[in-house]
Amino acid sequence: MRVLAIESSCDESAVAVLDEGQGLLAHELWSQVDLHRVFGGVVPELASRDHVQRLLPLVRDALAAAGTRPEQLQGVAYTAGPGLAGALLCGAALARSLAYGWRLPAIGIHHLEGHLLAPLLETPAPGFPHLALLVSGGHTMLIEARALGDYQLLGETRDDAAGEAFDKSAKLLGLPYPGGPQLALMAAAGRAGACPLPRPMLDRAGYEFSFSGLKTAVSLAVRSQPLDAQRRADIARGLQDAIIDTLCVKTLRALEATSLTQLVVAGGVGANLELRERLSRELSARGGQAFFPRPEFCTDNAAMIAVAGLLRLRAGECAEADLSVRARWPLTELRPPHSAGRTLQAASVGHA
Ligand code: KG4
Ligand code: ZN
Repeated sequence: MRVLAIESSCDESAVAVLDEGQGLLAHELWSQVDLHRVFGGVVPELASRDHVQRLLPLVRDALAAAGTRPEQLQGVAYTAGPGLAGALLCGAALARSLAYGWRLPAIGIHHLEGHLLAPLLETPAPGFPHLALLVSGGHTMLIEARALGDYQLLGETRDDAAGEAFDKSAKLLGLPYPGGPQLALMAAAGRAGACPLPRPMLDRAGYEFSFSGLKTAVSLAVRSQPLDAQRRADIARGLQDAIIDTLCVKTLRALEATSLTQLVVAGGVGANLELRERLSRELSARGGQAFFPRPEFCTDNAAMIAVAGLLRLRAGECAEADLSVRARWPLTELRPPHSAGRTLQAASVGHA
């Protein structure tokens, strides 16, 4: 089976072609970051207009790069939510139109399920059940993933997401939007312990997070001393250490409580090298294993939507030809696909 996938939930237009046997054949991405930077955040209407212009050329490029003609495809997947309604509709309308014209089944995919399944593009790939730490710009969640579509939410953030804490702190340090990756680079020059910041909710039982207090702590730190390059790096380091410590403690706690040995880390903050190293170390020290998507597939992309689409289409799932998208869509509403009474188990999707 070979599928085309389209992602347009926020400020990235992306298209990918994935083959069950040969793996990922092509993935194309256009980032709107430069378009939104002057506004300090994503402007929904501008995002939609840009998706309209970019998506179809990206489909052409992806098919050409994959050496694939439409007749060689068996399905079209697209992100149906959660995200910006207008942006989602751009991808949904295009995907549904192409599928209709090509007489193919189409399927709307949950963006976060895409993030969760992105590590299946790597070797070795994780299997089910596993614990997933989903850390993006909008979400911070610990999930017990029992099977495709069977996601038990153990805990999430009460306020800001980890990515948001990175971005807001980066802004306070004068870095341009989205500052997470740049803050991480700056932190490399910071000294451990030079600017200690609070580790919120660590003393509380359970798996909830709270990161909104960190930006207040960072804004106090920014004003408390003259802000030279070293001080900025020390604050960046303090912030990164506080976020990583908090994520790690709760993740290890959840691993212990569930007796799971495989950890999947997904979402944009999963690209953070310090977080990857720390969790890899902690897992191997416990005889387990941590799985990450390659950094470019931690942030938004269409390859992850292709994985989810392929697995669900292969299991016989395909939605009616309706064009609805869901700006809000709890992950826990997802269900496993059923095909002739068979529930799909973990399966990697081939490696090119
Ligand atoms: O998953 P994603 O691309 O978008 C959402 O669906 O939210 O995540 C984007 C988030 C941003 O907050 C960005 O600053 C953060 O991921 N991010 C990072 C790194 N790379 C991306 N945060 C920390 N360190 C990084 N290397
Ligand atoms: Zn995302």
